[in-house]
Amino acid sequence: MSMPSFVGRRVIVVGCLVAATAAFAQGPRGPQGPQGPGQPPRAPVGVPGPGANPAPVAPPAANPNQGRPGPQLNPLGQPLAGLTAAQLAAFNEGGVEFRKVETVAGGLGPIFNDVSCVACHSAGGVGGASRTTVTRFGRTVDGVFDALESQGGSLLQVRSINRGLREVVPTEANTVARRVTTPLFGAGLIEAIPDSTITLGTLRAKPAGIAGKVSVVRDVVSGVNRIGRFGWKAQQATLLAFSGDAYVNEMGITNRFFPTENAPNGNVELLARFDRVADVEDEIDPVDGKADMDRAADFMRLLAPPPRGPATASSVAGEAIFARLDCAVCHTPTMRTGRHPIAALSGKEVGLYSDLLLHDMGALGDGIVQGTAGAREMRTAPLWGLRSRPTWLHDGRANTVDQAVRGHGGEAQSSRDRYAALSAAERQQLLDFLNTL
Ligand code: HEC
Ligand code: HEC
Repeated sequence: MSMPSFVGRRVIVVGCLVAATAAFAQGPRGPQGPQGPGQPPRAPVGVPGPGANPAPVAPPAANPNQGRPGPQLNPLGQPLAGLTAAQLAAFNEGGVEFRKVETVAGGLGPIFNDVSCVACHSAGGVGGASRTTVTRFGRTVDGVFDALESQGGSLLQVRSINRGLREVVPTEANTVARRVTTPLFGAGLIEAIPDSTITLGTLRAKPAGIAGKVSVVRDVVSGVNRIGRFGWKAQQATLLAFSGDAYVNEMGITNRFFPTENAPNGNVELLARFDRVADVEDEIDPVDGKADMDRAADFMRLLAPPPRGPATASSVAGEAIFARLDCAVCHTPTMRTGRHPIAALSGKEVGLYSDLLLHDMGALGDGIVQGTAGAREMRTAPLWGLRSRPTWLHDGRANTVDQAVRGHGGEAQSSRDRYAALSAAERQQLLDFLNTL
């Protein structure tokens, strides 16, 4: 984490947008649980070769989320309303980084999953979800999960800069899970929810059978324990931490938080033979004090949330059913951000439809133990922007929202059963409601 000394004053500028993260959310610090370095996301399987990125889209002029009548051409992937000129510039510069195709000379690989953030995060706009999945593996014996870290687990990298390097799922692995790419719209609002607000959700009275626990993670940015909220297992607390994690684990670009390359299936000799670019690869630009991961985090932080669709008589009826079936116990309609140096993120209502807690989902759990999250535990998926998703549930198994609800188990079993028992008309009302989120 060597910051060149010439960075000086500019770093303070970064502080406003990026390190802001650490400043606001000061909830109770969770217990100091043993917490391996979070191993968040990784990449997909069957990705087309490098260069499959959508063409860059022109950054919007300003505030395009407001007052757009009728069908919206590109309502997602826009900046938050009410940004200052400097914040808008940071959003646009971050968007360039998010779309940038990384090269081998620039540090890509030796093993990686794709060549840019947008290669996976693209549905509905830059920053969206996609069908692209990444693979995690491990070995479970008598209910004890081993991430097989010495063999490159738990995240698989499916591509490499040279043929001899490709990772495979080791034969010892008996637990293999896929995770689909999640959307990032509104991520800055989720980041700005204080830890204490999420923790409060564990204390609320709940119907029998529903619990929920916080994910406690060591945040690499601040170095303190925080409440995780990003990723299918709520495995990261801040966007900058997730950004650094994605750079190293999805693209093989080492950075000041994650300075070590992944060795192919743990083979350090093989890594040494092919790793030609000196670490840390994501260097801080002396001009503005930011590395690429800082810019990508700026972009995600300033992305507007998905706009709500218009309510209809049917969707209003469906909202009541959503509450009656206890969907809203886990899919909490709103939370509020704390004080934040960026006015557009400060004291805002966040209509995310999630408590950001981990729930035991029974057989729907993905079998991977990650941080505080047990094998069957998953983060309540935020439901905003549901209609722009190409596929649903953590592994993308659901091709419709109806299938996603029917796939619930564990703590959500009773909700799911009552959903299945609805009349066709009521079920349609509920789906119409979900379609407005
Ligand atoms: C190979 C595909 C792929 C690439 C490339 C990729 N991501 Fe992701 N991203 C994913 C997947 C899959 C997940 C869900 C992972 C999980 O939860 O285990 C994810 C989740 C995230 C999340 C968590 C969002 C939430 O729902 O809480 C963030 C933030 C994120 N990615 C940022 C980035 C950034 C920044 C980059 C570029 C540096 C990037 N990603 C590159 C596939 C990708
Ligand atoms: C016990 C908490 C809980 C309850 C109750 C619950 N859910 Fe969920 N829901 C979750 C979790 C956790 C996930 C993520 C599942 C996964 O990881 O695959 C999820 C995922 C979803 C998804 C898919 C979202 C996505 O991004 O793929 C939909 C749609 C959904 N829930 C709707 C509902 C509806 C409708 C109800 C009521 C009938 C409901 N849920 C009740 C916890 C709950």
